[in-house]
Amino acid sequence: MLYVELFFAPVQQLSQVFDGYQQAVIGLGRLRGLMRTPTTTPQAGEPIVLDRLQGGIVFDDVHFAYESGKGEALRGVALRIEPGETVALVGQTGAGKSTVLKLLARFYDPTDGAVRIDGIDTRSLDLASFRQRLGVVPQEPHLFGATVRDAVAYGRPDATDAEVEAASRAVGAPQMVSRLALGYLQPIGEHGRNLSAGQRQLLALARAELVDPDILLLDEATASLDLATEERVRLATENLSRRRTG
Ligand SMILES: Nc1ncnc2c1ncn2[C@@H]1O[C@H](COP(=O)(O)OP(=O)(O)O)[C@@H](O)[C@H]1O
Ligand SMILES: [Mg+2]
Repeated sequence: MLYVELFFAPVQQLSQVFDGYQQAVIGLGRLRGLMRTPTTTPQAGEPIVLDRLQGGIVFDDVHFAYESGKGEALRGVALRIEPGETVALVGQTGAGKSTVLKLLARFYDPTDGAVRIDGIDTRSLDLASFRQRLGVVPQEPHLFGATVRDAVAYGRPDATDAEVEAASRAVGAPQMVSRLALGYLQPIGEHGRNLSAGQRQLLALARAELVDPDILLLDEATASLDLATEERVRLATENLSRRRTG
């Protein structure tokens, strides 16, 4: 019996190694597939790099369908927003509010018509430098699993602690942070799992504030906040949006 056991233990170990190996191969295959997927928003041949945006936004008869052949999410949207102006889109769920913001940030290109920033078609802009001038707070913000401080500093990892705190103060987040046991050093868990939806939104707002964007896009960014917090955020963003397009 002893010899039989001595013989089978390594065989069993070997099967575990093989199992791990197969999982790694599958993971690598998926990763390669993802990296090879062509982007639907290709970089222009000679992209235009803008250091600062004025913030003028024009939607010129924009049509957009998520899948070709299926119904259009946007049908002939015309919109003109002057630099420094703050505009709110109001509509039913599914009306296309988020879609307008996604086209503005060039997560998608319109199927017809054009989106222009400062008179330039977004398809001609250098994507990386353009996005750097945008502050986007999506409906469901994505946070990476790190500390509160790192989550806020995501857009500017070199920011000092003082800058992170100033950005948090600007959106009224310090009260929320001070209630966490470890404050700014509190780990937020993967996707911010350890936080409430409202706390995640506050961090996403502070994150957008820190990069000091020229255009601020808020997609129902205060929907999960309580009334008192929402009022604080509203007052804070009102002060901030005076010098940018929102
Ligand atoms: N990723 C997607 N793929 C396919 N259809 C989508 C996607 N996102 C939104 N839609 C559709 O586009 C329409 C507009 O959605 P959306 O812009 O999210 O509305 P809102 O933000 O105003 O609630 C809806 O009919 C929705 O079903
Ligand atoms: Mg939406």
